[in-house]
Amino acid sequence: MTRSTLPRRVVVTGATGKLGRAVVAHLCTVGVDVLAVDRAGGRDPRDVAGEFLQVDLTDYGQVVEAFTGGADEHAGGIDAVVHLAAVPAPGLMPNATTFANNSAATYNVFAAARAAGIKRVVWASSETVLGLPFDTPPPYAPVDEEYAPRPESTYSLNKALEEEMARHFCRWDPELVMVGLRFSNVMDVEDYAPFPSFDADPLLRRWNLWAYIDARDGAQAVERALAHDQPGADVFIIANADTVMTRSSASLMAEVYPGVEIRRELGEHETLLSIDKARRVLGYEPQHSWRDHVDQL
Ligand SMILES: NC(=O)c1ccc[n+]([C@@H]2O[C@H](COP(=O)([O-])OP(=O)(O)OC[C@H]3O[C@@H](n4cnc5c(N)ncnc54)[C@H](O)[C@@H]3O)[C@@H](O)[C@H]2O)c1
Repeated sequence: MTRSTLPRRVVVTGATGKLGRAVVAHLCTVGVDVLAVDRAGGRDPRDVAGEFLQVDLTDYGQVVEAFTGGADEHAGGIDAVVHLAAVPAPGLMPNATTFANNSAATYNVFAAARAAGIKRVVWASSETVLGLPFDTPPPYAPVDEEYAPRPESTYSLNKALEEEMARHFCRWDPELVMVGLRFSNVMDVEDYAPFPSFDADPLLRRWNLWAYIDARDGAQAVERALAHDQPGADVFIIANADTVMTRSSASLMAEVYPGVEIRRELGEHETLLSIDKARRVLGYEPQHSWRDHVDQL
């Protein structure tokens, strides 16, 4: 594991979104100076902690100004970018709209970071590149980062292209560190109330192999990724250590995907989206589980 200290001043895009709010709050608590950007919200202090600038990332000029300290009242000196802004799932907007927004936003973030001399970029890829909704069975389980992306939607296609784009940005600049976090389905504590009901139908959450990510553990993964110091582009699955189900992971696979190779003995509720690489390389270790919260909801 190659690690360094956290960057001092960091732009977080998508800062008023579900994951963004958790990431900004977490980075502020570990002493990072955050410039939060989003095209939505931010004027109400409840939207996001700290310093906020409203930016539409599809406009390159706005992104450059945000990253170089051109905007009034906002200092430059940006050391790293955490790029979370996106239309966050398939089916929320027409496909071409999702593609146009997400691809332009990410290209502009990557290119503006390069223009501003920023050497660290952490961005939200997605579990979807693993082949969600798994109408075609996974190649093996637990799934990991060792097989090529299998996007099955326009949203996911764009995430796969972003991973490819990052590889080329790093080829152009050998000092650049780019970390793509393939987040699972993001959950706040309030989202855990229906979890115990999922067991009734094993097909209900089959689409992502019964995985999830607590937003606070997602934020921890971002912190770990910001401390990653290995030049080049890399990707990591970020999920919680357990599934959303009460029944065992092995029994779910046997019932729903009987033909899929199980590559190792599974823990009782072990995630089927492997986080081994994130643990090994980033030092990521989930701190939360829905199982600790359902009685309190
Ligand atoms: N929510 C999930 O389950 C999930 C799973 C895997 C990956 N992701 C990824 O994680 C990231 C964050 O997702 P989220 O759940 O917090 O979504 P969210 O919709 O809550 O937040 C996304 C934010 O991005 C902003 N945004 C979108 N386009 C923008 C633009 N052109 N300029 C400026 N801001 C823009 C939105 O205003 C919004 O506040 C996304 O990249 C998403 O694709 C999410």
